[in-house]
Amino acid sequence: MKIQVINGPNLNMLGKREPKLYGKLTLTEINRVLMEEGKKNNVELLFFQSNHEGAIVDCIHDCNEYADAIIINPAAYTHYSIAIRDAIASISVPVVEVHLTKIDEREEFRKISVTKDVCKAQFYGKGIGSYLEAISYFIKQQNTLKKKENTDDKK
Ligand code: DQA
Repeated sequence: MKIQVINGPNLNMLGKREPKLYGKLTLTEINRVLMEEGKKNNVELLFFQSNHEGAIVDCIHDCNEYADAIIINPAAYTHYSIAIRDAIASISVPVVEVHLTKIDEREEFRKISVTKDVCKAQFYGKGIGSYLEAISYFIKQQNTLKKKENTDDKK
């Protein structure tokens, strides 16, 4: 299984950016941990980060050609990017939304996610754990699918 991880604006600043909120790990360090988790489970992870809405939209479209799943932290775009919402809705690849922080316990404007409804699930508030939960979600989904295929074969 190939999972594309997409991180939105300012997440390249992790480690330096408001560490009390977002933690001390850099994005490279986070990606390294995720990569290891993927390897253990036979999952290939690909990483993309951009501060530009259009580049994120393009990446989502491209995923339709090569990815089995997408984990996206749209960052601030979560709260207002209809373009990213529409891009997610336009592809057949399943998408899960993640956030490092508890977006439901922060400022009012962060409680709204315009992307959530077009995603299969949302994991948030657990730092890097939110990304790990998203990886396990897709592994479980894959295992359920495999089991179903096996029982269908026997019919
Ligand atoms: C974030 C939450 C957003 O509100 C914020 O704009 C971010 C990061 C998170 O991971 O907690 O940049 O998506």
